Amino acid sequence: MTKLLYLKASPRGADSKSTAIADAYLAKFKAQNPGIEIDVLDLFSEHLPEFDGDKVAAKMTVIMGQNHSDAEKTLWDEITGIANRFISADIYLIATPMWNSGIPYKFKHYIDVIHQPGLLWGLDPENGYFGLLQNKKAVLALTSGAYGADMPSPAFGIDHQSTYLGSWLNQAGINDIEEIRFQPTLLTSDPDSDFKAAIEAAEALAA
Ligand SMILES: Cc1cc2nc3c(=O)[nH]c(=O)nc-3n(C[C@H](O)[C@H](O)[C@H](O)COP(=O)(O)O)c2cc1C
Repeated sequence: MTKLLYLKASPRGADSKSTAIADAYLAKFKAQNPGIEIDVLDLFSEHLPEFDGDKVAAKMTVIMGQNHSDAEKTLWDEITGIANRFISADIYLIATPMWNSGIPYKFKHYIDVIHQPGLLWGLDPENGYFGLLQNKKAVLALTSGAYGADMPSPAFGIDHQSTYLGSWLNQAGINDIEEIRFQPTLLTSDPDSDFKAAIEAAEALAA
C-alpha cells in the first residue's frame, strides 16, 4: 500500500498557513487515492532524542565501517527506528514556515536524527555520497511572512528554506519535488487572495 508521511513543522496548529495548504493538498489527494495510508508527524509534539556526542560517536562508527559497541548499538537502534518511519513512506508531504531564513529548529532536529549513513545515504570513497531512497516524491507547502521571490531587495530573509530542503531530499535520493508557496503571508496587500490562490494551487497539484 502506498504510504504518505505528512510532516508538520509549524507549531501554530489551526492558525498555521503552511499546514492549511498541505491539508488542502491532502484532502484532494485522499479523495483520489482512497486506499492511501497516511502517517502524520507533528514535529512540535513529537519527542525526539538529543543527537548528542554518544550518538555522533555511533554515527562515526558506521561511517568508519566498524562495529558498534553494545552501548552504541542501543543508541543506533533508536535512531534507526525513527528513520525507518521516514524511510517506509512513498510520498512526503511537508508543511513548513520559514524561520530566520531557514526551517524551524524542531524540523532541523528531526533531519539531524534521521539523515544517517546506511539509512538515508551511503558513502563511496571514489564517488562521494549517494542517496539510498528510491522512487519517492515530496510535496513542500512553504510559507514566509515577509520573504517572497518578487519582494524588493534586501528581502527579510534569504530562501535557505526551500534550497536546504531540496538539497537534503536530493542527498537522500528524493529528486521528484513539487512546491506550493504562499510567500509572503504578511507583507502583502491582499493576504486573503494570496492564501486562496495557494489553496487552489495545492488542490490543482493534488489533482
Ligand atoms: C521564529 C520565527 C522566525 C521567522 N523568520 C522569518 C524569516 O526569516 N523570513 C520571513 O519572511 N518570515 C519569517 N517568519 C514568519 C513566518 O514565516 C510566517 O509568519 C509564516 O507564514 C508562518 O507559517 P505558519 O502559518 O505555517 O506557521 C518567522 C516567524 C517566526 C515565528
